[in-house]
Amino acid sequence: MWTENLLQKTILVTGAGGQLGMELQRLAPSFPGCQFLFTRSDLPIENFNAVKNYFEQQQIDVCINCAAYTAVDRAESEKGLAFLVNAEAVGNLAKICSQHKSTFIHISTDYVFDGSSETPYSEEHSISPVNVYGASKLKGEDLALNYNQSSVIIRTSWLYSSFRQNFVKTMLKIMAERPNINVVNDQFGCPTYAADLALVIMMIIGNERFPGGIVNYANAGVTTWYEFALAIKEYTKSGCVIHPVPSSQYPTPAKRPKYSVLDTSKIRRLLDLQIPYWKNSLHTCLGLLT
Ligand SMILES: NC(=O)c1ccc[n+]([C@@H]2O[C@H](COP(=O)([O-])OP(=O)(O)OC[C@H]3O[C@@H](n4cnc5c(N)ncnc54)[C@H](OP(=O)(O)O)[C@@H]3O)[C@@H](O)[C@H]2O)c1
Repeated sequence: MWTENLLQKTILVTGAGGQLGMELQRLAPSFPGCQFLFTRSDLPIENFNAVKNYFEQQQIDVCINCAAYTAVDRAESEKGLAFLVNAEAVGNLAKICSQHKSTFIHISTDYVFDGSSETPYSEEHSISPVNVYGASKLKGEDLALNYNQSSVIIRTSWLYSSFRQNFVKTMLKIMAERPNINVVNDQFGCPTYAADLALVIMMIIGNERFPGGIVNYANAGVTTWYEFALAIKEYTKSGCVIHPVPSSQYPTPAKRPKYSVLDTSKIRRLLDLQIPYWKNSLHTCLGLLT
């Protein structure tokens, strides 16, 4: 049983106040055999000395890096900071994990792709980010694998949770406030419930043969932001009218890939996993929020 392999493990979760970090905090009591260390701004990952000292003070078996610069539009004007947190700091974490023989698990994004594909992106597909955030995350992947070949890098997409700010919570708020809204209908992707991803990360840690390298994880199915919003409306029975609009009518500082659906066959095979359909997971999250 994979949970037996988790016994006695000390797991550091950086960026533990974010969506995924909070989901790992919620899940932690289900793994009483593990010791979890949750850090937030008390361990700024770009502070190399602080990270080095932290690893010297305790034996860490696994580091799950949930810390990231995630402001996709702001990254266009804060390139230095985005690369410091999403690339340099990630490389450093990977190197320190290698020195301490700790497993390094890092989260990356569908935004490493340019969106020109019409079929789901496998881990081997060529990458070509269209915005600064995507480029910084791609550099983080490269540095992590250069410094530590055993790094496990999970690419995910359209993450949401009952914690922190995200598309689902924004929609709930504006649907309650406005009689009608516009939502883009020409970007295709897979919404991913951070709680599902948190559990999969624990399964990866519990699988002693899980290989280093890149692996995709997203909820099952494909949708657009418009259909995602419609599913929220249906669940909440909101009277708000949602109009589908092209991205050209909703200009943002950062360009988004038109299509960023991830092919999840590798992780399904490695973990013998049934991935929940996106709408089912959305309903679980909405059940907590409404
Ligand atoms: N959100 C998405 O749609 C999405 C999609 C694909 C991939 N991802 C990736 O998935 C991972 C988790 O994303 P998320 O949505 O959980 O992100 P999030 O909610 O924005 O959380 C990121 C956390 O990192 C912390 N942080 C930022 N800079 C830091 C630093 N220098 N040192 C330490 N902590 C720092 C933030 O702290 P504060 O609380 O102070 O802000 C925040 O708590 C990230 O790697 C992200 O790139 C996200």
